[in-house]
Amino acid sequence: MQNDQSRRDFLKFLGYGSLTLTQLSLLQSCSTAITQDKKFPSKMDELVLANGLSYYPLISWGDKINHKEVFGFNNDYINIDYLNEKELIMWVNHEYVNPIFVSSPERTKKNVDIEKQLVGGSLIHLKKENNKWNLVANSSYNKGVRGTTKIPFANNKSIKGSKIVEGTLANCAGGKTPWNTFLTCEENYDTFYGERDLATNKINTKRSYLNWEKFYPKNLPEHYGWVVEIDPKTAKAKKHTSMGRFAHESATCVQSKKKKTVVYTGDDKNDEHLYKFVSHSDQNLDSGILYVANIKKGQWIPLDLERSPELKKYFKTQIDVLTYPRKAAKILGATALNRPEDIEIHPHTGDIFVALTNNKKRNDFHGSILKISERNKDYTSEYFQSETYIFGGELTGFSCPDNLAFDKAGNLWITTDISGSAMNKAPYKKFGNNGLFVIMASGQSAGKPIQVASAPNDAELTGLCFDKNYQTLFLSVQHPGELSQDKNYPTSNWPTGKTPKPSVVAITGKLLTSITDA
Ligand code: FEO
Ligand code: CA
Ligand code: CA
Ligand code: CA
Repeated sequence: MQNDQSRRDFLKFLGYGSLTLTQLSLLQSCSTAITQDKKFPSKMDELVLANGLSYYPLISWGDKINHKEVFGFNNDYINIDYLNEKELIMWVNHEYVNPIFVSSPERTKKNVDIEKQLVGGSLIHLKKENNKWNLVANSSYNKGVRGTTKIPFANNKSIKGSKIVEGTLANCAGGKTPWNTFLTCEENYDTFYGERDLATNKINTKRSYLNWEKFYPKNLPEHYGWVVEIDPKTAKAKKHTSMGRFAHESATCVQSKKKKTVVYTGDDKNDEHLYKFVSHSDQNLDSGILYVANIKKGQWIPLDLERSPELKKYFKTQIDVLTYPRKAAKILGATALNRPEDIEIHPHTGDIFVALTNNKKRNDFHGSILKISERNKDYTSEYFQSETYIFGGELTGFSCPDNLAFDKAGNLWITTDISGSAMNKAPYKKFGNNGLFVIMASGQSAGKPIQVASAPNDAELTGLCFDKNYQTLFLSVQHPGELSQDKNYPTSNWPTGKTPKPSVVAITGKLLTSITDA
C-alpha cells in the first residue's frame, strides 16, 4: 500500500472503511507483519508466550475427572467433538508415565498397576462460561480409556489368539474420522511390553524400561502398536488391524473424491516408513489397502499378500503382514525416512505435510517437513510427487518438528521436540527450550517460522487443537521436568511452583485471532 488514501480505499473495499487511521495501522500491522518477540528462544522454566497471547490451565495430571478416575500422565494429542455451541467433549492422549513422579522406579506389580491407570486417554466434558472453557465435574462423559481397559480388535480379528486385549498405551498423536470418532495411536509400545524379535521369535525387552511384561506376561507386544478408534460419546474402543502395527505417530483422515476414507500414518523410528491406508468404505476403517511410500519413485506400494509374490516368501497370511509391516515394507522397497511424526492436510491445496523430526544416525539433527501432492489431487492415487517444504536448523530457527496444525487461513503451526537430554547442548544450544512456531501463509512474514511460545524445562508442546472459531488453541505441555532424578529436586516446577505436572492449557488472545484471521 503506497499511502494512507490508497490504504483507506483498499480497506473500504474490504469493508473496513469506517475505521480511524490508528485502527487501520493496527489492523494492517496485524494482518501483514508478525514479528518474533525478543523473548525467544527461551530457557525459562515457564510456558512463555508471545505478546498478545495468554493462557489458562485447563486440566493437569492427577485432577479428578469423575468419582473413580484422575486425568492421566503426559498428555499428548488433543481433539474435540462439539455437543453444542458452548459444550464439547475433548479427547486427550496420555502417552507414558515417569515412575519418579507417579509411582517409583522400583519395578513392582503395585507400581505397574498405578501406572496402568495413567496411560491411554481421557474423555472430558468442557463447557464455555464467561469466555473460558472449564471441566464439567463428574459429567457422565468424563471417562478414561486406560492400560487396563479391555479392548476388542475390530472385525472380530484375532491376534496371536486374542480377540480382546488389555489396554491401550503409548498413545502419542491421533486423528479424527469423518464420522466424528477419535483415533489414538499406539507409538512406543515396546517401552511397556517389549517387542518380538522376528529372527528368534522371542520377546526382546531391551527397550522396555517400564518392564510391564514382568508382571503381565500374557500381554504380548502384538497386542499394541495399533490405531485405536474411540467413540467420544460412549468411550467404546476398538483396535484396528487394517492400518498395521508399528510406532504409529498419528492417523490423519481425509475423504477422497471417490468417497473413500484415506488415512496417512507414519512410523516414528529411525529409517522407518510413511504409510497410507485406503478404506473400502466411507463409513469405517475396518478393511482396505495399506500402502507404504517409495519417495524416490513417488509411488504408494500396496502391502498386499495377493499382489506381492515377494511377500508370499515370508508371510503366510495378510494379518501377519499387518502385524509386522516394517518387514513387509522393507521387502517391497519402501523409503527409509527420518522419523515421520505428525501429518496434516493443507486446508486449501490438499497437499499432505509430514514432519520428519530428525535422524541423528544419519546426521540429520534438525529435521524437515515433507510435502506430498497426490496425482490429480486424488487421495486414493498410487502415485505422488514430493518435496521438502522446509528444513529445521539455524537458518529457519526451529529444530526437530513434531506436531503440526493448519489454521483456517492456511498458516502452519509447528511444535518442536528436541529430546530433553539433548536440549540446550550442542547442536541444539541456540534453540533453547522446545517451542511453538507459526509459518504465515501470506503477508510480509510469509514463509518464515516465527516462534510464539516456549515450553518449561524438559517439556514438549504437543496436541495443537483449535476450537471451532479459532479463538482458543488447546495445547498439551508434556513431560516438564522429565530429566529429574529425584522428585524432591525436580528440574522443572511448572505449573504449580512445586512438582511438575503435565497439563493441557488453553491459549487465547488478540495475536491468535489476528493470525488465524490473516
Ligand atoms: Fe510420541 Fe513421535 O512422538
Ligand atoms: Ca509426537
Ligand atoms: Ca496435528
Ligand atoms: Ca517426538
